[in-house]
Amino acid sequence: YTVSNKKVSESCPSNIALIKYWGKYENQIPANPSISYTLNLCKTNTEIEFVAGDTFSVQTFLAGNEESKFAEKIEKYFKNIEEYLPWILKGKYIIRTENTFPHSSGIASSASGFGAIAKCLMELDEQFSGKVDQDFKLRKASFLARLGSGSACRSLYDGLVVWGETKEVSGSSDLFAVRYPNEGIHEVFRNFNDWVLLIHEGEKSVSSTVGHGLMNTNPYAERRFQEAHENFATLKTILKNGDMAAFIKMVEHEALTLHAMMMMSEPAFILMKSGTLAVINKIWQFRKETSLPLFFTLDAGANVHLLFPANIDEDKIQEFIIRELIQHTQNNGVVKDVMRF
Ligand code: PMV
Repeated sequence: YTVSNKKVSESCPSNIALIKYWGKYENQIPANPSISYTLNLCKTNTEIEFVAGDTFSVQTFLAGNEESKFAEKIEKYFKNIEEYLPWILKGKYIIRTENTFPHSSGIASSASGFGAIAKCLMELDEQFSGKVDQDFKLRKASFLARLGSGSACRSLYDGLVVWGETKEVSGSSDLFAVRYPNEGIHEVFRNFNDWVLLIHEGEKSVSSTVGHGLMNTNPYAERRFQEAHENFATLKTILKNGDMAAFIKMVEHEALTLHAMMMMSEPAFILMKSGTLAVINKIWQFRKETSLPLFFTLDAGANVHLLFPANIDEDKIQEFIIRELIQHTQNNGVVKDVMRF
């Protein structure tokens, strides 16, 4: 390869897990397989300016403001992946990045952020080393994104994406994510809305690094990892035959299990707020009364992802969300996204 001054820019979406990744081994190996929907609208746009030279340094700007803490993180990350990109420490980087969604929304900005950086790095790699196979390029970007933030490796692909080896998905790997096979997905799961209700803004009370670490001493961890494998087998059938009721049950169970694991950790963390519980109860009441397919999932925080298929009584569901969950609750707004593939 020959390095030279270059400027590249890439964009990468965030994702929301249906079967959650929570718990990992050395070198970002997940303790269980996970599957997510890639969000179409919540994206990170990143530009990397590379200035070839003998001294390695990183300067980062988030939405135009210089952020030295982020730069330190990226420096560490670049040093960490040198064995996979031998040229990476041979110059200076100016990284400009911005999200299309509010920073405090709890939408995984580390997923879209590391996804976008990994894509930029593979673009530079191609320019320095000559044309590479496009599937390989994407797969290696997913591999590199994983080393930044585990869930980021799923953001490199559209639609339903699997990370972690499972016998249910051929070609699945602990090292990078793969697309869930198209022929295994019923039509009803191809066109979804994801509205994030902002219940609580501000710093997360537990970082995902600490959260994953707590699984090492959680007495229920092994059972949880085993359950995730079992859930994969169940989900495979659901995705194929379009069983919405079973899908809802599975997705909500996974979200609550993630939070239950945190409550059973030592020390314990409660990541839901009273607003989270109020919204969950309202959703359950709404489903009981109407049987309409509105359901939720959660990340490691208080905000609620409201999921509902496009086209199936969408107006009635949206009207309920706006009337009962947005106007009548003291939350901080909503970020609307879609999952279409
Ligand atoms: O990618 P990390 O290390 O920030 O872990 C995120 C894990 C969850 O978002 C809580 C679940 C998931 O599978 O995305």
